[in-house]
Amino acid sequence: MNIDGRPYRTIFPDADGISVQVIDQTRLPFAFELTRLASLDDAAVAIRTMVVRGAPLIGVTAAYGMALAMRADASDGGIDHAAATLAATRPTAINLRWALDHVAALLRAAPERDRASIAFAEAGRIADEDVASCRAIGQHGGRLLADIHRKKGRPINVLTHCNAGWLATVDWGTAIAPIYAAHEAGVPVHVFVDETRPRNQGAALTAFELNGHGVPHTVIADNAGGHLMQHGGIDLCIVGSDRTTASGDVCNKIGTYLKALAAHDNGVPFYAALPFSTIDWTLDDGVRDIPIEERDGREVTHLTGRLADGGFATIEVVSPGSPVANPAFDVTPARLVTGIITERGVARADAEGLLGLYPERRRAA
Ligand code: MRU
Repeated sequence: MNIDGRPYRTIFPDADGISVQVIDQTRLPFAFELTRLASLDDAAVAIRTMVVRGAPLIGVTAAYGMALAMRADASDGGIDHAAATLAATRPTAINLRWALDHVAALLRAAPERDRASIAFAEAGRIADEDVASCRAIGQHGGRLLADIHRKKGRPINVLTHCNAGWLATVDWGTAIAPIYAAHEAGVPVHVFVDETRPRNQGAALTAFELNGHGVPHTVIADNAGGHLMQHGGIDLCIVGSDRTTASGDVCNKIGTYLKALAAHDNGVPFYAALPFSTIDWTLDDGVRDIPIEERDGREVTHLTGRLADGGFATIEVVSPGSPVANPAFDVTPARLVTGIITERGVARADAEGLLGLYPERRRAA
C-alpha cells in the first residue's frame, strides 16, 4: 500500500541484501519510521514488543529471523535455538509456528554453508505468497460486499475489530482486503473501526490505513458495536484471525467474541478472513485448546498518546494498586461465524466447509 504516494510492504529486504527493514508499528499513527532487523535478537524483540504484529506478518518476520540467525550459527543447534527463541515470542498466532516449522525443515535438509541464503530466499517467497493470499482474500470478500450492497441498494456499513489490514500482513491485509477491493471497485463502503483496547490497534492502525487509502470510516469505542447493531447500523462484521481451528473456531484479538455475540443476537453476518497459514489443522476445540497470550498489565493501566504540543506522553488511567488482567485474544465458536474468507474462497465455518476448500487436508479414513 502507499504511504505518501510511495508503495510499501510492512517488511522487505534491506539494500545490504542480508538484513530486513520493517515499519515500526509502535510509532504509528503519529510517526512513520522504518527500523532494520539484522539479527535473531532483533527479529525476536520486534515481534515481542509489537514493532511488527498481526499473525501473517509475525510469521514472515519469524521466517526472516531464521535467516538472520543462520548468518551467526547455521548448525543444527543454531536452527533449534533460533526456532525456539522465535516461537517463545508470542504464543497465540499459529502463523509464527507454521513459518518456523516450514523454514526449519527446509534448513535441516540443506548443507550448512547454504542455510542463510536458502532461509532468506524462502522468507521472501513466504512474503510474496502472503501478498498473493491477501489479494485473493480481497477478491473473494470484495464480491461478498458487492452482493450485500446490491441487495441493500445503499452504501454498506462494515464493523471490524483490531487491525487486520495491510499492516498486519505483508500487504493488503485479511479482514480489510475485501474492503479495499470493494472500495476500488466502486462499492460504497463505510467502516466502523473498534478502537480495540488495550493497545488500540483499531484506533491507531486501522484508522491510519483507511485514512491513507481514502476509505470512509468512523472510529468507535469498543463498547459501541452492540448498540449500532441493534439499530441496524452494521450490515456485516469482518475480523481477522490469529488461529482458526479445523472446526472453524476463530481466535482473534480480545473483544472479537463479544462482537460475534452481538452480531448473532441481531442477525448481522459475521465473517473471519484469513490465509491458509492461520488454520491450525491439529485443533478442533479452540476455546479449550488455543493458548491465549497474557500480556503485561501495563497495557491496561497506562495509555500512550500525542500531546497538544506534539510531544508524546504515557499516562496512568487505572486506580493505582488495583490488580489487572490482560488476555490478548479470545475465541469465537464456529456456531457464531457466518463464513470464513480465505484465498481459496468463502467457506462455511465448520470442518466440512474448510475441508471443501482444502481437500488435501482430509485425513485418510
Ligand atoms: O496482537 P496483535 O496486534 O498481533 O493481534 C492482531 C489481531 O488480532 C488481528 O486482528 C489478527 O492478527 C488478524 S491478522 C491479519
